[in-house]
Amino acid sequence: MKHLSSRLNKIPASVISEMNNFARLYKAINLASGYPDFNPPEALVEAAVNALRKGYHQYADTAGRSSLRQAIARKFSRFSGLEVDGDAHVTVTVGSTEAMFLVLAVICEPGDRVLIFSPFYENYAAGLHLLDAQPVYVHLRPPEFLIDREALRREFERGAKAIIICNPANPSGKVFTEEELLFIGSLAQEFDAYVITDEVYEHIVFPPHRHVYAAALPGMFERTITCSSLSKTYAITGWRLGTVIADEVITEQIRLLHDYITLGAPAPLQLAARTALEFPDEYYAEIARQYAERRDIFLEYLERSGFGYIPPQGTYFVLADISGFDFDDDVHFCYWMVRTVGVAAVPGSSFFAEPVKHLVRFNFAKRPETLHEAGERLMEIKKLR
Ligand SMILES: Cc1ncc(COP(=O)(O)O)c(C=O)c1O
Repeated sequence: MKHLSSRLNKIPASVISEMNNFARLYKAINLASGYPDFNPPEALVEAAVNALRKGYHQYADTAGRSSLRQAIARKFSRFSGLEVDGDAHVTVTVGSTEAMFLVLAVICEPGDRVLIFSPFYENYAAGLHLLDAQPVYVHLRPPEFLIDREALRREFERGAKAIIICNPANPSGKVFTEEELLFIGSLAQEFDAYVITDEVYEHIVFPPHRHVYAAALPGMFERTITCSSLSKTYAITGWRLGTVIADEVITEQIRLLHDYITLGAPAPLQLAARTALEFPDEYYAEIARQYAERRDIFLEYLERSGFGYIPPQGTYFVLADISGFDFDDDVHFCYWMVRTVGVAAVPGSSFFAEPVKHLVRFNFAKRPETLHEAGERLMEIKKLR
C-alpha cells in the first residue's frame, strides 16, 4: 500500500466528534456538541423554503451572492462602526471553518509560526499542520484567562506570521477587552504580523462585557482578517454559511482559493440568509438575553451538583471544574458521565496545550427543558461519587 500523507499524523481525531458519537450510542443528553437544540427564527425557514421554490438551485457567484455580501458588509458596519465594502472586502464561505482554513492557507508559508491562545478551539492547529505551519500556544491565565503580556511579547519576538484571536473565545467564554485587543494590535504592528479573528460568537456576549471588533480599532483593518459565521447567531449551524472580511488584496487571494476548494456556499441558503442579515438590533439584544438566561439556569445546576466553574463572559460554553469528584482525569470522567448519568461534555484537555485535566466543557445552547433535564441528571453525580 502506498503511504498516506504524513501531515495527517499530526492531526488527532476530533475529541468533540468522538464524544458526539459516544453520546449517540448511549442516547445521552448531548452538551458536548457545538450546536443548539432549538430551531432558527421561523422567518429564516420560510426564506429557505421560498429560495428553493423560486428555483435557486445552481451555483451562486463563488465569492458569495452579491446581495448577501452587501448585506454582510452593512451589518458588519452597523455593529463594528467600520465601513466595509461587500464587493471588495467580503467573501461568503462554507462556514467559518472554511474561512479560517482559507485565511491560514493564504498567509502561511511552511514553517511559519502562528500564535494561538490556550485554551483554544481545536480546528486551528489542524489547518496549520496541513500547511506545514506551526501553531505556537500562548497560555491564558485562569480564572479570568488573562494575557501574560511578557510571554506574548516574547513569542512575537521569536517570530510570528499571525496571531489567532477567538473572540468571544470557545471554550473559555473569555471576551477580550478593547484594551487587550489594542495591546495585541500594537504587538502585531510592531512585529508586522497578521491578526486573524474568529468571531462566530460575536452576538453571544453577557453584560457588562461587550464585543469589540479588532478590525475596527485604529490602524488595524489592513492587517486584520475577520472570520465569522451565521451558524451561531441565527442557530443555523447546518446551513454552512461563513464570512471573511479582509482588505482587497487578501480578499482576492481568499476568493481564488475558495473557488478551487469549495466553489461556493449553498446557493439557496445564501439567498435566504439575506433575511437574517436584515434583522433589527432587537434580534441581537434578544438572543444575548436568551443565552444569558440559559447560562444562568445551567450554572445554578453546576453549582448544586458540586462542579466548580469559570463564569463565561460570552459564547454558549462553560468550563466546569471536576476536582470535587474523585476522577484521575477529564477523559475518564466524560465517558463515565455519559454511561452513568446520560450527559455528554467534552474533556477540557482537548482544548489546552498545558496539562489541564480537571475541566470539562458543557454547551448550554439548549432549550430550558433540556437544561433542566441535564441539570437533574448532573445532580445524581454527587450520590454516585
Ligand atoms: C470558535 C469556533 N469557530 C468556528 C466554529 C465553526 O463555525 P462554522 O459553523 O461557521 O464553521 C465553531 C463551532 O463550534 C467555533 O466554536
